[in-house]
Amino acid sequence: MSTIFPKWTNGLPFHMVGGGMTALTLVVGGVWYYFTPAFWEVGYMPKQPGGGFNHQIHAGKLGMDCRYCHSQIEVSAEANIPAVSVCNGCHGENKLQKFENPQHKAKTDFIREAYAADAPIEWHRVHKLPDYVRNFPHSVHLNAGVSCISCHGNVARMPVVWQQESLSMGWCLDCHRNPEPNLVPRAGDPKPGGGVYEDMMTRLFDVEKMKEDPAAVAAQGALLYEKRKLAAPENCGACHY
Ligand code: HEC
Ligand code: HEC
Ligand code: HEC
Ligand code: HEC
Ligand code: HEC
Repeated sequence: MSTIFPKWTNGLPFHMVGGGMTALTLVVGGVWYYFTPAFWEVGYMPKQPGGGFNHQIHAGKLGMDCRYCHSQIEVSAEANIPAVSVCNGCHGENKLQKFENPQHKAKTDFIREAYAADAPIEWHRVHKLPDYVRNFPHSVHLNAGVSCISCHGNVARMPVVWQQESLSMGWCLDCHRNPEPNLVPRAGDPKPGGGVYEDMMTRLFDVEKMKEDPAAVAAQGALLYEKRKLAAPENCGACHY
């Protein structure tokens, strides 16, 4: 959708719902939306320390599950960034020959240095909501069956992570009003033709492929929404103090 309509039109449903859709509110809404900091944070891609971290290699080529590193995401509001020891499990001194092309060794020296010094790697945060928004609950969204791809884009194709969605209030509400096209099967959900699905939440290439048929996804999503007894909130207090 975002490729057909310019981003600012995401704010439109918000202004239409009240019924008072005048040219003035549209102009004000458009200007308000456009100048909201979140709008120009789309594409934000800070330079990361050392050799950085390449999701395209690890999550894409090597096929590692997101939860190998972001391990708390299904039980905690926050998505944890992995400790150096997780990286060292493959890039540590004794593992070098097994996992690494010796020609690439210099690129991962920063990991072994941090590990030896018992110091964290100071990753730069990419996605950040303002402080007046309540703690964003990752676990609730994942347990509802919203895949990482709906909110972060296909990270498994990103050599360097960047912010693909605006994370604006209009963006949150767009999905809360119509979440069906964003719900994917979880482990154990029955397949239409028989059998059960495996967990799709973190298999971003599968989700990407699935979304090529939006009508089918929405129909299936409507069933999932019903079955999971979901209720995405639109009241101010759900997201603000
Ligand atoms: C081998 C470990 C590892 C795996 C596997 C992994 N990540 Fe990450 N992820 C990291 C590290 C380290 C960072 C911090 C550095 C950065 O932002 O590039 C990060 C950062 C991120 C960020 C940006 C966080 C911010 O600062 O806003 C997102 C989004 C993300 N990962 C999503 C994913 C998704 C989706 C998957 C699965 C497709 C995944 N990750 C798999 C290690 C991993
Ligand atoms: C399951 C094993 C595994 C884990 C865990 C892992 N890596 Fe890797 N990593 C690899 C492999 C395999 C390669 C490819 C090596 C090659 O091509 O020489 C690689 C490559 C890299 C490279 C070189 C990238 C390039 O551009 O060539 C960097 C930097 C790196 N990893 C950083 C990290 C960091 C930081 C972490 C922890 C957040 C991490 N890795 C966790 C297996 C792992
Ligand atoms: C419904 C939308 C949504 C989904 C689904 C989602 N995220 Fe996020 N993610 C966000 C938002 C919003 C933030 C910023 C939160 C904040 O600032 O409090 C964020 C932040 C992050 C961060 C940075 C955390 C930090 O403290 O630095 C990581 C890592 C991350 N997400 C990984 C993932 C992974 C991996 C998945 C899938 C398993 C995922 N997210 C699914 C919306 C989402
Ligand atoms: C792609 C879809 C999608 C997006 C984008 C999204 N959400 Fe949600 N959200 C949902 C669904 C579905 C639920 C319902 C979960 C349930 O009923 O268990 C939900 C529930 C919630 C809840 C209720 C948590 C609870 O304990 O019941 C909060 C709070 C929330 N979202 C905040 C946000 C914020 C803030 C943003 C934007 C930064 C956001 N969401 C973006 C789909 C989304
Ligand atoms: C689903 C979550 C959600 C709900 C529900 C919600 N908000 Fe927000 N709101 C947000 C997020 C996220 C931001 C931050 C947007 C950004 O960074 O630009 C925000 C920003 C705001 C802002 C600051 C606007 C600006 O200029 O950036 C105001 C004012 C606001 N909300 C009021 C409200 C009111 C009033 C309601 C109830 C009618 C409400 N919100 C309901 C998520 C929500």
